[in-house]
Amino acid sequence: MCGIIGYTGKKNVEEILISGLSRLEYRGYDSAGVAILDNGELRIRKKQGKLAVLREDLKKSPIKGTTGVGHTRWATHGVPNDTNAHPHVDHKTQIAVVHNGIIENYQELKKKLQKAGYEFSSDTDSEVIAHLIAECYKGDLCAAVRAATKQLKGSFAIAVVHKGESGRVVGARRDSPLIVGIGEGENFLASDIPAVLEYTKKVIYLDNGETVDLTDKTCVIYNGKGKRMKRKPTVIKWDISQAEKTGYKHFMLKEIFEQPEVLRNIFKERIKKGRVNFEELKISKAQLKKIKRIVIVACGTAYHAGMTGKYMFEKYARIPVWVDNSSEFRYRDPLVDKNTLVIVISQSGETADTLAALREAKERGAKVLAICNVLGSSIARESDGVIYTHAGPEIAVASTKAYTAQLAVLYLLTFYMASARGLKAARNKQFLKELKKVPHLTEKLLDEYRSRGNRLAKYATDFHEYYLARNNKSCFLYLGRNINYPNALEGALKLKEISYISAEGYPAGEMKHGPIALIDENPWVVCIAVEADTYDKMLSNIQEIKARGGLVIAIVSQGDKLLKKGKLDYIIEVPRVPEVVSPLLVVIPLQLLAYYVAEAFGYDIDQPRNLAKSVTVE
Ligand code: F6R
Repeated sequence: MCGIIGYTGKKNVEEILISGLSRLEYRGYDSAGVAILDNGELRIRKKQGKLAVLREDLKKSPIKGTTGVGHTRWATHGVPNDTNAHPHVDHKTQIAVVHNGIIENYQELKKKLQKAGYEFSSDTDSEVIAHLIAECYKGDLCAAVRAATKQLKGSFAIAVVHKGESGRVVGARRDSPLIVGIGEGENFLASDIPAVLEYTKKVIYLDNGETVDLTDKTCVIYNGKGKRMKRKPTVIKWDISQAEKTGYKHFMLKEIFEQPEVLRNIFKERIKKGRVNFEELKISKAQLKKIKRIVIVACGTAYHAGMTGKYMFEKYARIPVWVDNSSEFRYRDPLVDKNTLVIVISQSGETADTLAALREAKERGAKVLAICNVLGSSIARESDGVIYTHAGPEIAVASTKAYTAQLAVLYLLTFYMASARGLKAARNKQFLKELKKVPHLTEKLLDEYRSRGNRLAKYATDFHEYYLARNNKSCFLYLGRNINYPNALEGALKLKEISYISAEGYPAGEMKHGPIALIDENPWVVCIAVEADTYDKMLSNIQEIKARGGLVIAIVSQGDKLLKKGKLDYIIEVPRVPEVVSPLLVVIPLQLLAYYVAEAFGYDIDQPRNLAKSVTVE
């Protein structure tokens, strides 16, 4: 939610800010702006709309300078318009601030500042920060930022410049991400690594409560008590091409096609000599043995991965598992204690609700294990143990490769737990063998969909025509059973978030308890009918839908008998694998179907309306 960037060095800052913001646009894209220090002047330019609008404006009248800050917004307080766009300035236009987060006590602070004569021009919570820093300013920007941030309640990552302090950028964070990029004769601040990766691979992850004071040659970090902190930069191993489209039309498509490689890397790295290996897991096997139950907490797609994890853990590690949405867990009175393992799953590692749930669980004495993609993220750092998915940067707002990576880690963790608990090792080995075949099978499956005229793309354009012919009156239902039920939810989520078509996922057995009332010729029903213990039950569901005039897209295992009967409207084959590993294959056509439907409708696939990649506000 909002991306921020700061730079000080010798280069043309405008270019660096815009290129950094383009890599942060996944975090929000309703307006963008920059503040640049230019020969003792503070120049602000901000525009409603995507970054392209600002970029065009700057092309027409560029701003020179070598120090500045930039912002791409996802609105929380105040509609997206030029005035509410960041940076925000103080009443004398000396200080400019970009902010990611929510200031919870902004109204109280605003009243105080207004009484003291400060005039506000926007409807945002963020503007209060600029005035507050001005109020605290006594000639030293860093000291003023430290004094001001002490008064803030809520979450923030900020980058600040002052007209009178050329070459200086100050940053601070609490509960919103902020990294420092260490360059040669230049330094950076950013919400996320891709924004600086073109210029440096050395980054420092700022801790909660820290302030950083940057010039082109120096980087001084203070903790919340004002103590100087020594920090070594981490060297990032991936490179900028991983954060680029590399010939794909959209990041989402690229990320879907990266899945075989992501899975291959996870299995290669984690399965050694027939055993699962989690080197960085700081929770010992002895501790895992004592665990009486698991509670999995996550949001959105990560929550669906967690639901699949429940099936795995209960079946193969014989541990009871509860799965909860982070936003529900944190406000319940959850029953977790020292015998509970709480697994938090998050691609970004910054999701506010998941972070809060993690803290809640720790306070109640539970051990918390994170499954995270972003290195050094808040969730990764605050958990007792972490397993990284190493899926590389996921840029498209709709999560794809992070999901399959989370599933892969959950499979391995299940068998790690099973062996820690002394359960049948032989069965585990057979299972690991099956898992290791999956990357190749996903690759083969994806190869079928490389051409633009592929079958799924055709189904999607058929749907588009059908939808228009019916005056925009159609929707999707997704049905699955058992370990593929969470995939039904995930398929529906993917479709609705990028194509705005109403879509619901259900366990197929629930149809007769309500959803079947929806069936007429309007909804398209995606039925996951791959080889499974419940295969025959799924066939009955399909019959029930067909008998009521519903239109079915069935996902079946290769060579399925439904193919021969030719009675179905649409059919998608996936490689025949044991039921337990099938979610990793089934999800691929679900992701692609959503992608192609959104493409047929001509929507902005990587940046769907109202969404942001990293939900760092409640
Ligand atoms: C859906 C999607 C979201 C995220 C959710 C959690 O495609 O991307 O539902 O899965 O916001 O985000 P993380 O995993 O970063 O905690």
